[in-house]
Amino acid sequence: MKKLIAPSILSADFSRLGEEIAAVETAGADWVHVDVMDGHFVPNLTIGPVVVEWLSKCTDLPLDTHLMITDPEKYIEAFAKAGANYITIHQEATGGNLVRVLEKIKILGAKAGVSINPQTPVEKIKPILTEVDLVLVMTVNPGFGGQKFMPAGLEKIKELYSFRKKNKLDFLIEVDGGINETNIAQASEAGCDVFVAGSAIFHSKNYKTTIQKLKKAL
Ligand code: DX5
Ligand code: ZN
Repeated sequence: MKKLIAPSILSADFSRLGEEIAAVETAGADWVHVDVMDGHFVPNLTIGPVVVEWLSKCTDLPLDTHLMITDPEKYIEAFAKAGANYITIHQEATGGNLVRVLEKIKILGAKAGVSINPQTPVEKIKPILTEVDLVLVMTVNPGFGGQKFMPAGLEKIKELYSFRKKNKLDFLIEVDGGINETNIAQASEAGCDVFVAGSAIFHSKNYKTTIQKLKKAL
């Protein structure tokens, strides 16, 4: 399976989003990671479907939409229509509706992902892993870019990797939070496929050199 780099635009210059995305696309990014926050599920506010719609017009890269919002079911149709390719919801945000919301994402034509916070064990999502295209392991508490990587997430990646193999499933494993040149190799060795990096890329001087270094470490 090819390993993918997904720059998180949370650390980009929002006054020049189109240019920033074009720059990471040229620099070798595989996906664009879009962090959606509602000021309720997480203590921060970011962007909504209107911005996703414009982003989908300015790049051919898949939009990896990470919904850190309460009651995501209300909004997935808007994100799917806006052009989100992957829509990832949080296990902690959906309660008993998880499978229904994942089904709805797929019916809307997007790929369905589930994410778990640092304090949520893999055990919580095992029963629904047959339903997902992607599992996103958070290695920081969601809400802000630029936080320190929490290595406990590596064990979860290993657990997901063996579960996937044992059950002959094919979901992608993605890691998000504090990923940089010093720790990406550990996540890769643990079995991760998609690597989100926000500040490591957008706060670097040369996006191309940074993405090349990240890819080299995989
Ligand atoms: C955190 C977001 C992440 C974040 C990653 O809530 O989900 O995608 O932007 O940024 P870095 O790579 O700086 O931790
Ligand atoms: Zn994210």
